[in-house]
Amino acid sequence: MKKIPIIIDCDPGVDDSYALALANSHEGFEILAITAVEGNLPASVTRRNALCIREELGINCRIGYGAEMPLKKEYTRGAASVHGVSGVGTFVFDEPKLAPDEMPAWEIIYDEAVKHKGEMILFAVGPLTNIAICLEKHPDLPQLLKRFVIMGGGTFGNVSSTNKTAEFNIWVDPHAAKYVFEKMDVWMVGLNVTHAAAVEMTDFDEMVEICGNAKNARFIRELSTFSKKNCMETGADNNVIHDAVAIACVMDETVVGFEDHYVFVEDGDCDNIGQTVIDFEKKSGKAPNCHVAMKVDQKKFVNIIKDMCRHYAQK
Ligand code: BDR
Ligand code: CA
Repeated sequence: MKKIPIIIDCDPGVDDSYALALANSHEGFEILAITAVEGNLPASVTRRNALCIREELGINCRIGYGAEMPLKKEYTRGAASVHGVSGVGTFVFDEPKLAPDEMPAWEIIYDEAVKHKGEMILFAVGPLTNIAICLEKHPDLPQLLKRFVIMGGGTFGNVSSTNKTAEFNIWVDPHAAKYVFEKMDVWMVGLNVTHAAAVEMTDFDEMVEICGNAKNARFIRELSTFSKKNCMETGADNNVIHDAVAIACVMDETVVGFEDHYVFVEDGDCDNIGQTVIDFEKKSGKAPNCHVAMKVDQKKFVNIIKDMCRHYAQK
């Protein structure tokens, strides 16, 4: 079977880590590169985590360092409260031995897109700064991709009590996101589906059990333990692993259902900055530019995650 070449642009991050581990466990994917962007934590941390995850999971791919700051907005907030100060919960990586690529993230993305003309899937599960820079430098990027899938946006937000409409990744760099939505055919896996695919506390118990003491599963075991602890601390009986849903929707196309709509990103200096505004009623007269995730099969998703645990436990 011919593998699909993929790049994952990310800001690891606990759920980014699950996404990377999931993609690496799928035999239908070949990970060409992991590119890091500012987001959940400052770029210095997301870059190191990308380097370390490559070695921890034994992924043979390029690592690209990307943007340190959003295009125009200040970088005012990390999400260390959700992901831990290190970004990967309580896990402590071995010191990485390998260096990052000499090319910056956006050049790696373009370089691989050219090499794999029309075959490559680009995932972006952090703020869209690297993708906007790539597009600005290389306007033919969209035509070179097989598909462009993001975790971001959706029908509601998660940023703050004053901005209930924006999702974190889009909100961190709304100017980049606006530009990307204007230029690219986007498969948007947003909060409305990632929340509907939340993993139950008892599932995390099972994941820990599946991982057992296997050395190759130690990262996933620790992430699952951290996710369970998060559930208990917040009083919720489940935890959302957003970024992995974007990977799963390509691994099995029956997991997420999409509808085509016109979507724009609000980038003005207003309360809903970062909102992905979806023209559900087709009133704008504009042609759909986005495949909006609207349905998810939670059970299928959770099973995919458990299969990933089995993969690492048996490796
Ligand atoms: C998104 O924001 C980040 O905190 C997560 O990694 C995910 O990509 C969810 O809003
Ligand atoms: Ca992320």
